[in-house]
Amino acid sequence: MKKGCFITLEGAEGAGKSTQMARIAEWLVDAGHDIITTREPGGTPLAEAIRGLVLDANAEQDTDTPAELTELLLMFASRAQHLERLVRPWLAEGKTILCDRFTDATWAYQGGGRGISAQWIAALEALVHGDLQPDLTVLLDLDVRQGLQRAAQRSEPDWFERQDIAFFERVRQAYLDRAAQAPGRFAVIDASGSEEEVWTLVESCLHQRLGS
Ligand code: TMP
Repeated sequence: MKKGCFITLEGAEGAGKSTQMARIAEWLVDAGHDIITTREPGGTPLAEAIRGLVLDANAEQDTDTPAELTELLLMFASRAQHLERLVRPWLAEGKTILCDRFTDATWAYQGGGRGISAQWIAALEALVHGDLQPDLTVLLDLDVRQGLQRAAQRSEPDWFERQDIAFFERVRQAYLDRAAQAPGRFAVIDASGSEEEVWTLVESCLHQRLGS
């Protein structure tokens, strides 16, 4: 694959995204890529402020929590800013962008989790990024209970981490459905093993897909 590509990392809570993200970044640098690591929602100061609006919401303390449609639009508002100010300009300069989540997360969380219609998500996707899609999407797939147990050992739960198991089962299924629709773009990785075992799988997929 060309240097200067767009790579995204996806997975539900507790799938070990942060660790694998750091290792993928190292691998890319060693392979000669000039990389930018970033995340969604977020990635620029304004997009990070939008992230805070959603993730800091707490239904036990706030009366004005994000409505489903607001949540969807804020994800795409953050994305529009991130694409315009960071992703597109850097791709144009030949950088490789490694992004922690992208629109597949909207399909999974707002589509699968919240049940928002595919028609609305597809319309916003077309508006915000037209035909720009990642060159490679690594999906860390994990049993929902195992993931939530791992995530519970970390910090205070955010807005999404407070959702119930059924929500996360739908998120997982929506991710797998997305991957099945675009097998050439997705690499689905079994994330149930140790950090080292998962990395072995991710690394072999990078070799295979990025050819270095
Ligand atoms: P994370 O940084 O731990 O991945 O947290 C981001 C949260 O935002 C995560 O729970 C997934 C959620 N999210 C959406 O619901 N829709 C989106 O489009 C994106 C990018 C993230």
